[in-house]
Amino acid sequence: MSERITIKSQREIELMRAAGAVVRDTLLLLEKSAAIGMTTEELNKIAEDFIRSQGAIPSFLNYEGYPKSICTSVNEQVVHGIPGGYKLKDGDIISVDVGAILNGYHGDAARTILIGNVKDEVKQLVEVTRECFFRGMEQAVAGNHIADIGAAVEQCAHDHGYGVVRELVGHGIGTSMHEPPEVPNFVDKRHGRGPRLYPGVTIAIEPMITLGTADVVVLKDGWTVVTRDAKPAAHYENTVAITANGKPEILTL
Ligand code: CO
Repeated sequence: MSERITIKSQREIELMRAAGAVVRDTLLLLEKSAAIGMTTEELNKIAEDFIRSQGAIPSFLNYEGYPKSICTSVNEQVVHGIPGGYKLKDGDIISVDVGAILNGYHGDAARTILIGNVKDEVKQLVEVTRECFFRGMEQAVAGNHIADIGAAVEQCAHDHGYGVVRELVGHGIGTSMHEPPEVPNFVDKRHGRGPRLYPGVTIAIEPMITLGTADVVVLKDGWTVVTRDAKPAAHYENTVAITANGKPEILTL
């Protein structure tokens, strides 16, 4: 992984659009497929088969030993839930996180899907998490700094009384899934405004928002991040390019 923020050429952005399209289409397929009674392992298989059918590679598989092709995080699970025998039930929310490599370039995105009849309170959490992404994304413009994104996400979450997870952050993305810079969903005064954004910088913006407190713990499987108070959490992520025209381009939507 390179130490510096890389600026992608138009040709590279084009390649990232193609990788991003595979991720977007996989997420659309998962949104159509997820249903009561289905296991998270079945969703993993649907996603992996589709990604490969597009000539792409699931980037999460074997990443630092991660055993599956997608992450499936149900209810109080925030991120990095491992697909398995869990059967989705009425009222669940499930965050699906998908990454794919196509022609050497990465796309990374996540959605939180409602299963059956979800409580209004939880539905609102899911909707606001998506809104917080867009608030953050609006700040992903040349001349702004990384912290402007987190400030907007955090403001959006706090306006609704939600928590913002601090242990995990968004990231630069390109020929690696994780590149500099880190993209926190909050402002840390000690870190100042963070690096400046330029056209050609590509980042994954990924708010992780909680209904209760923002504290998280990792389960014994070494991956699954859950809220400490066991209240629900939602995740929404897209890969975004900073452009020269003042409008960020979403590569995975
Ligand atoms: Co990501």
